[in-house]
Amino acid sequence: MSMSEHTNPLGDKPIRVALLGCGVVGSSVARMLVESADDLRARIGAPVELVGIAVRRVGKDRSDVPVDPALFTTDAEDLVTRADIVVEVVGGIDPARGLLLKAMESGASVVTANKALLAEDGPTLYAAADAAGVDLYYEAAVAGAIPILRPMRESLAGDDVTKVLGIVNGTTNFVLDKMDTTGAGFEETVAQAQALGYAEADPTADVEGFDAAAKAALLASLAFHTRVKGADVFREGISDVTAADIAAAKAMDHVVKLLAICERTTGQNGTSGVSVRVHPAMIARTHPLASVRDAYNAVFVEASAAGQLMFYGRGAGGDPTASAVLGDLVAVARHIVAGGRGPGESAYADLPILDVGDSVTRYHISLDVEDRPGVLAQVAQAFADTGVSIETVRQHIRTNSSSGEARANLVIVTHAATEAALAATVDALAASEVVAEVVSVMRVEGA
Ligand code: NDP
Ligand code: HSE
Repeated sequence: MSMSEHTNPLGDKPIRVALLGCGVVGSSVARMLVESADDLRARIGAPVELVGIAVRRVGKDRSDVPVDPALFTTDAEDLVTRADIVVEVVGGIDPARGLLLKAMESGASVVTANKALLAEDGPTLYAAADAAGVDLYYEAAVAGAIPILRPMRESLAGDDVTKVLGIVNGTTNFVLDKMDTTGAGFEETVAQAQALGYAEADPTADVEGFDAAAKAALLASLAFHTRVKGADVFREGISDVTAADIAAAKAMDHVVKLLAICERTTGQNGTSGVSVRVHPAMIARTHPLASVRDAYNAVFVEASAAGQLMFYGRGAGGDPTASAVLGDLVAVARHIVAGGRGPGESAYADLPILDVGDSVTRYHISLDVEDRPGVLAQVAQAFADTGVSIETVRQHIRTNSSSGEARANLVIVTHAATEAALAATVDALAASEVVAEVVSVMRVEGA
């Protein structure tokens, strides 16, 4: 039976869509809804009618958005009660949360790109969707245009996902890529990412890793059937990544990327659980993630039966994100036409979230040291005492950026060790009389 042969419970009436937000993403969604109306009708089996667009400033010039200006309103509370599907691209926690709860109570399904809200209070939204018998879809919330949540929720629902490793923030990838390839400065590249519509309203969410942590929480929740909140994710942003770190990575034929890493693993006390972290890390230029340039995103998934899967595409920007929003809208509208709902929350595994001290990786450590006999032995002893094995050591002369003084610099790359052991090593090095300064410590992933 074709989609158009289903009985539309709305009769001949169109499916009413309310759009909350008409910024970078919302304006692309509105334009695509209008320009693709005929195709959407054919794909859904019913026409779609845009019944209103809630914004903050109704008087703002929006002549680039090809809709009747009378559709714009500041009364989002009323708008959500007049729709079959509410598309939320406002962002932030409140008022988005209250509006979506009201929409679902009023019987509307929800499509949202709001990772911050889902990572803060996803279970409340899922519960509201269950209570109202409506859909909650949010493909655009992670990795822009890339279909990654639907594969996790549906295609891999019969497999055991063991690891998800990805570049999930376009802004920071854009910044790190430009710092690596053009030597451009940090502030300048963040401003470019904002102008291109990649950055969040407050780019601190991107730069400090909050956006990636929210996405990691959503990925881990779906991958491991366990509730993971943004606050559960160990997070370090890129604001402390220096030109010297980028140069140090280059010297090892590596690049620096902000990675989201979600793993099923066993902690030191034998507890089986979930480790979720976001931080900058060096990866070899030969690693597939090293070739993810500009604001592109990529996500690796490892599953017991499927093996390794890779998803790649545009991770931010109006049109790419609107593509994911429209995909969800079609899926939800088809459910309205054909009956039934998409998957709800799956959190039955309820695994513990492990402490970051349990996570295991390799480390690149740069130390300024005294240049005299016995120093290397004392440095090596600090590693031995804390149970961290050294893979390589390189010594050269480094000019200190603040004092201009020439110092002996040791670059040490370790074998895999726990965060806890590495932290103890760094403390021992910092306290050592032969170490003038621990210049930098960066994780090395993907060996
Ligand atoms: P923008 O800041 O560009 O747009 C936000 C829109 O929401 C604006 O139209 C604004 O109105 C409106 N708005 C703000 N507050 C209210 C309110 N209280 N009531 C009604 N409308 C309001 O954000 P983006 O389009 O960049 O992002 C929207 C969402 O999509 C966020 O959740 C973001 O995380 C997510 N997202 C963004 C991506 C991107 O690349 N930009 C990619 C993936 C997800 P006005 O126009 O009057 O200011
Ligand atoms: N600010 C986000 C990013 C938008 O840069 O990736 C996409 O979620």
